[in-house]
Amino acid sequence: MLQIENLEKEFIMHIRGDAEIEGFDCISFSAKAGTLIAVTGPSGSGKSSLLKCIYRTYTPTGGHTYYTCEDGNVVDLAVAEPWEIIRLRATEIGYVSQFFSVIPRVSAIDILTNTQTARGIPSKSARERAAEYLEKVGISPQLWDMYPATFSGGEKQRLNIANALITRPRLLLLDEPTASLDARSKEWVMNMILDLKQEGAAMVGVFHDEIAIETLADWRYEMRERQMVPIDYKMDYAQEELAAFA
Ligand SMILES: Nc1ncnc2c1ncn2[C@@H]1O[C@H](COP(=O)(O)OP(=O)(O)O)[C@@H](O)[C@H]1O
Ligand SMILES: [Mg+2]
Repeated sequence: MLQIENLEKEFIMHIRGDAEIEGFDCISFSAKAGTLIAVTGPSGSGKSSLLKCIYRTYTPTGGHTYYTCEDGNVVDLAVAEPWEIIRLRATEIGYVSQFFSVIPRVSAIDILTNTQTARGIPSKSARERAAEYLEKVGISPQLWDMYPATFSGGEKQRLNIANALITRPRLLLLDEPTASLDARSKEWVMNMILDLKQEGAAMVGVFHDEIAIETLADWRYEMRERQMVPIDYKMDYAQEELAAFA
């Protein structure tokens, strides 16, 4: 569903005399439907930048991100026109950011409702589903009509995840989705991610937590010296697939 070939990102710092900071180099991997690729690695190694390049928050400086759309067309997200990226984000590609920014003065339940009505779901059923998801991520009903600006870090993160999952994306990019969660919420969130994976979504996620990786990941890579290095295989076909890349 997702095939990344020689993806590369360099940052040019104009305020520092056009100094180049290398984000990452020649990254290649693929994600099939119903699998999750876990990316680990030290802070500053380019994990978030990789997800942002796939989602096209950042424009890659080289390489390709081939994505097979629901209609069967293959789009290179690395060079697709902005309207195409906007369309795919609105219909099939989701992203959970590492740092959640809240929309001011919109209640938690309205955020989840609006995400769905924007995609044409009638408001009554959108609201019912919003309540169902808030319950699933363990946000107390007293908070549903509150503004998330006052929520704790973990509550904001769970709301963020619910908001990404409620549209059932086909491709989901997750940036440390379980990082600030307690054991119980982590389990809720992991179960929801597993459900989406079982429905056939392809996912790329940045994780630090070993339990989350063991539970969720089919493939595992580590960012080392600007490269993505495969470090562990669970699936038998992994070696074959790697050979196919060589
Ligand atoms: N927009 C940007 N402009 C310049 N440098 C950036 C930008 N975004 C990230 N970087 C740099 O790229 C490197 C990798 O950052 P990041 O992808 O956030 O790492 P990680 O998520 O692995 O901690 C860092 O050196 C960071 O400063
Ligand atoms: Mg990061």
